[in-house]
Amino acid sequence: MGLTNMLDKSSKNRKQWTSLLVFLSSNLLLFSFVSSDTADSITQSQSLSDSKGTTLVSKDGGFVLGFFSPGNPNNRYLGIWYHNIPIRTVVWVANRRNPIDGSSGMLMVNNYGKLVLLNQNSTVAWSANSTKEARNPIVQLLDSGNLVLREENEENPENYLWQSFDYPSDTWLPGMKVGWDLRTGLERRLTAWKSPEDPSPGELSWGIELHDYPEIVMKKGSDKFFRTGPWNGRVFSGVPELRATPVYDYSFVSNKDEVYFTFHMINTSLISRAVMNQTQYERYIWVDRKWKQYLYLPKDNCDNYNLCGPYGNCIIGESPVCQCVKGFKPKSPDTWNPDKWSKGCIRSTQLSCQDKDKIGFDKFFGYKLPDTTYSWVNLSMNLEECRVKCMNNCTCMAYSNTDIRDGGSGCAMWFGDLIDIRQIALTGQDTNSLRQDVYIRMPASEKEVKDKQKMKVIIVVVVAIAVVLGVLLIPYCICKRRNSREKMENNVMIDQNTEGQSEDLEVPFFNLTTIAIATDNFSNNNKLGEGGFGIVYKGTLTDGQEIAVKRLSRSSTQGLNEFKNEVMLIAKLQHRNLVRLLGYCIEGVEKMLIYEYMPNGSLDSFIFDQTRAKVLGWSMRFNIICGIAKGLLYLHEDSRLRIIHRDLKAGNVLLDSKMNPKISDFGMARIFGGDQTEGNTNRVVGTYGYMAPEYAIDGLFSVKSDVFSFGILLLEILSGKRNRGFFHPSDGLNLVGHAWKLWKEGKPLELIDTCLNDSCILLEIVRCLRISFLCLQQHPEDRPNVSSVVMMLHGESSLLEPGEPASFVGKRSPSSSKNQSSSTNEITITLIEGR
Ligand SMILES: *[C@@H]1O[C@H](CO)[C@@H](O)[C@H](O)[C@H]1NC(C)=O
Ligand SMILES: *[C@@H]1O[C@H](CO)[C@@H](O)[C@H](O)[C@H]1NC(C)=O
Ligand SMILES: *[C@@H]1O[C@H](CO)[C@@H](O)[C@H](O)[C@H]1NC(C)=O
Ligand SMILES: *[C@@H]1O[C@H](CO)[C@@H](O)[C@H](O)[C@H]1NC(C)=O
Ligand SMILES: *[C@@H]1O[C@H](CO)[C@@H](O)[C@H](O)[C@H]1NC(C)=O
Ligand SMILES: *[C@@H]1O[C@H](CO)[C@@H](O)[C@H](O)[C@H]1NC(C)=O
Repeated sequence: MGLTNMLDKSSKNRKQWTSLLVFLSSNLLLFSFVSSDTADSITQSQSLSDSKGTTLVSKDGGFVLGFFSPGNPNNRYLGIWYHNIPIRTVVWVANRRNPIDGSSGMLMVNNYGKLVLLNQNSTVAWSANSTKEARNPIVQLLDSGNLVLREENEENPENYLWQSFDYPSDTWLPGMKVGWDLRTGLERRLTAWKSPEDPSPGELSWGIELHDYPEIVMKKGSDKFFRTGPWNGRVFSGVPELRATPVYDYSFVSNKDEVYFTFHMINTSLISRAVMNQTQYERYIWVDRKWKQYLYLPKDNCDNYNLCGPYGNCIIGESPVCQCVKGFKPKSPDTWNPDKWSKGCIRSTQLSCQDKDKIGFDKFFGYKLPDTTYSWVNLSMNLEECRVKCMNNCTCMAYSNTDIRDGGSGCAMWFGDLIDIRQIALTGQDTNSLRQDVYIRMPASEKEVKDKQKMKVIIVVVVAIAVVLGVLLIPYCICKRRNSREKMENNVMIDQNTEGQSEDLEVPFFNLTTIAIATDNFSNNNKLGEGGFGIVYKGTLTDGQEIAVKRLSRSSTQGLNEFKNEVMLIAKLQHRNLVRLLGYCIEGVEKMLIYEYMPNGSLDSFIFDQTRAKVLGWSMRFNIICGIAKGLLYLHEDSRLRIIHRDLKAGNVLLDSKMNPKISDFGMARIFGGDQTEGNTNRVVGTYGYMAPEYAIDGLFSVKSDVFSFGILLLEILSGKRNRGFFHPSDGLNLVGHAWKLWKEGKPLELIDTCLNDSCILLEIVRCLRISFLCLQQHPEDRPNVSSVVMMLHGESSLLEPGEPASFVGKRSPSSSKNQSSSTNEITITLIEGR
């Protein structure tokens, strides 16, 4: 605007005339400076000067506006920082790109009612982009840390002429909006400082991507770096941690005028901020006179944007971390390695678009919802309408509710390939309250097609075997007849004892003679152990292979076919952390299971033995812990059957030659579970000291009772002490009670097995201890499921603070413990409850 114009226009206004003259004639020096340190505002006749050291302090004394140098003392910046916090923490910088050389900086409202920062020779180093000219302007630093320019008598925040909250630096303060004002096109985005010495904008930034289904995206330059997933009413689908807490709450607003996230402190006497630096987003809370980091993002490898490519699902703790969503297969199976991850997955079966009968949707949960760039939302549609609409559009690949509250509402649809999916660990209450199902388009016939393919494979295999056998059997028989003291047909898949059922081909049958020879006729010298289910013997087959034979006690009432069916099922459970079933044997009353032999025996023979415990350093123990968790995860969730172990304990974890853990006895619960209903049994099997309270007392079992046993096991591995039979001499507490006491007293390391002392990785140990307490919660629903446990073991953050573990295993008087602890021999017991 030209000066003459300006003069014409403002000629009515005497005040402006005067100040303009003052401005022109005296080059600022007639302005009065803010005198007292406690002023929170300046008017048009005042200014803030670096050389005079003047500052503005908000009314409640929370924030200061002043000049500072983060690095080179000659580079001066105008900024806002906390007044009461001794570590200067700058939350906003005005001239971040354009430092003032030396202490000549001066902030004032110029004659056009504009807020400007002038440097030495009165050129403008920075100015506020106000919407219109102010008549009686006042610049005020509010209690929120917001610097505003307004008309003197205007208090309505909507009518500020300018506010620093609209132009964030790297810090998100309570009440500040991150997102968009759609009316003006203003985007509020956090941008990292280039370095702690240089506030100019760095590469990383944090803001909302404006799609139909908005989400927060962290960008590196213009590339996506990390996304939170969309807001589902309660949390961001990919970051359950980023949500309301007792300290602050979050809100998300999306309407035709605005789309933004903001947060407020619930307890306003606490101070919290979020900040974007050149590596991550972090939230801090000021406690105990220091900034305590509350969370950071991205939190792990799987948070890397689109690490696994289309339809890839990133799972922390799996190897490789990239897996395909069910129904998909790696695009390039041979090169499914870290470099090629981004190639992603393709459908196992092609989709036919035209034939709607052949299209269905499979339900998934525990996922971070896919990238919403190509999404569409209608908030008033329900899930069924959503399904129909998605079904009718060939490019629609998935749909879900937009909001998970009140049973779910709204419709979101995804078009094109689904990318940046990851597995999310939800624990305790969250498992249900934060669950958001997503429905992914699949060929309806996938299952049938699969079954057919399987049938074909089976037929081919059977035919092939028959042919091979036909060819081999003749010379074999001849050979056998010639050689009457031949090797027993132990490993060959021929079952001479059965009625010729084809499924017998799947598990090798061993005959009794073979086993008797292998175990020296069940000699006591070969006895490896004994449990409630029977005695275990070591054996050596004639070809030298070592086996473990579990001879089931005769009390089992299970029928022959039932037993065989169970064996088939167990044989299908194959995982590197489960002991492998090699075969079975039935003859007369004898029922036996033949397993691979584990040279290192069971875990309890290490951790509870002072000498052998030394062999197990921390990394080995951690590997064992993770292995047990993975084996259990497989039993609970990943195998086709849901197996509840019911007797997880150190004695049932075996170690192979490389000290990898393998869970044993995992099929026993099923084999012996004939008289159980779904979640309730009148036969309580298990081992004292490992049983969850609801199981031991009420006979209720679930995957969560296994989780409880896992918690005990974890504690034993950490401490090298048995839970059962342990009573601390001074406080009379059992292991759980004692551990919890130490934890509460802030000295968890006192619990740790002394053997671990030199190999300690403090963080991992404390994490394991915390997981253990989470597993030991009184109420099953408060315990995490095993998939969460696996993720917590590997992940870095998002561990809840555990509550007090179950009182069932809590304090007992030392006197009553005496007779209990005398039976240190830990045997699986079976309680028959009179019901
Ligand atoms: C104004 O000051 C800056 C440094 O503060 C200097 O680089 C520039 O040359 C000066 N301009 C004039 C017109 O004096
Ligand atoms: C000020 O507003 C103009 C026009 O709206 C815009 O082009 C410019 O980038 C803004 N400057 C700042 C520092 O935001
Ligand atoms: C707010 O936090 C302060 C400091 O931690 C605490 O003393 C106070 O009790 C809290 N107030 C409420 C209402 O929670
Ligand atoms: C960001 O902050 C974290 C935690 O304070 C720190 O470890 C990291 O080095 C910082 N990154 C940069 C680039 O300063
Ligand atoms: C959203 O869904 C409602 C209910 O089905 C419908 O009336 C409305 O037209 C839809 N809006 C859009 C933009 O499709
Ligand atoms: C399917 O959805 C896409 C994306 O919204 C749209 O461009 C296309 O027109 C739709 N096709 C049909 C047949 O509705």
